Amino acid sequence: MIPMHTFEELAKKFTEKFNVNHFPEHPKSLYDPNSYFLQLGGKRVRPVLCLMGNELFDSIKEDAWQVAVAVELFHNFTLIHDDIMDKAPLRRGMQTVHEKYNTSTALLAGDVMLVAAYEYLNKIAVNYMRPILGLFNKTAKEVCEGQQLDMDFEQMQQVNFEDYLFMINLKTSVLLAASLQMGAVLGGAGERNQQLLYEFGRKLGLAFQVQDDYLDAFGDPGKFGKQPGGDIKSNKKTFLLIHALETLDAAGKEQLYQLMKSGDEGKVAAVLDIFKRCKVDEWAEALKEKYIKEAFEHLEDIAVLSKRKEPIRQLAVLLTQRQV
Ligand code: IPE
Ligand code: IPE
Ligand code: MG
Ligand code: MG
Ligand code: MG
Repeated sequence: MIPMHTFEELAKKFTEKFNVNHFPEHPKSLYDPNSYFLQLGGKRVRPVLCLMGNELFDSIKEDAWQVAVAVELFHNFTLIHDDIMDKAPLRRGMQTVHEKYNTSTALLAGDVMLVAAYEYLNKIAVNYMRPILGLFNKTAKEVCEGQQLDMDFEQMQQVNFEDYLFMINLKTSVLLAASLQMGAVLGGAGERNQQLLYEFGRKLGLAFQVQDDYLDAFGDPGKFGKQPGGDIKSNKKTFLLIHALETLDAAGKEQLYQLMKSGDEGKVAAVLDIFKRCKVDEWAEALKEKYIKEAFEHLEDIAVLSKRKEPIRQLAVLLTQRQV
């Protein structure tokens, strides 16, 4: 019997192996920003999903560690660029890269981090190269597509729920799903099991984004590590805003539209009040439960012993209850 590991155990192992000095010393002006960003930490969810995807089927292969590093580097690249695009001052409780250095530096630092991700992919056995690289590249393009839709939605007065789901599936879900699937490929899973795990990851990603949107509005600023109300300030179309616009009467809706147009000091507080009136917290809880239930249905169908799925189940619950 192959021993199974929990999220905490794998995150710890990954962090020990994940040498944050992925970059040469010179030029410092290019590489220091990346070292700065990586040492800020993060939950390391995606690499652990890759390792768990592998361990669901077989003991963890050396290649899974390389892919886990690649995925985490890719994710960090997206965050550095995302913070520029979202004009975010804070990440992981510290200054974002473009704030600490400058935007041009942050752009190039992100670019070189993406290249570093591919250097790790280039270490895996050649017989896995095609499927892994194929999935990685498809996913990377989808994340960019989702990210652009997210930006486009900022400029729109209202976005419907279906379009929003389409966007977050791309910007968030597919990377979680692909991390699991790449692990499964390396663990020797068959095609059907791979697809079921991918679908599990997609639904988990939706629940993950509900929580992300919720925390952006209502998270404890001391814990969450991002600027409170950042999404409200930039008129992001989040789960919360979409629900509010769909629930409010005409007058309430007009009030929210006016607030979205304003750049007033009191904007965040006023929008939060409306969110509370619309009971977004109850709604978000129910929605997370729905997606997790659907995710678990896919997980249950995977043809391995149920108890092997326990660490993944526990991680799914943890992620949707997270405060960070
Ligand atoms: C943030 O991801 C970006 C989203 C997809 C919402 P995480 O919440 O996993 O960020 P870190 O890596 O733990 O900081
Ligand atoms: C980020 O989404 C997704 C990507 C980086 C592709 P968000 O903009 O919601 O992530 P946070 O809230 O800044 O972490
Ligand atoms: Mg963003
Ligand atoms: Mg952002
Ligand atoms: Mg967010």
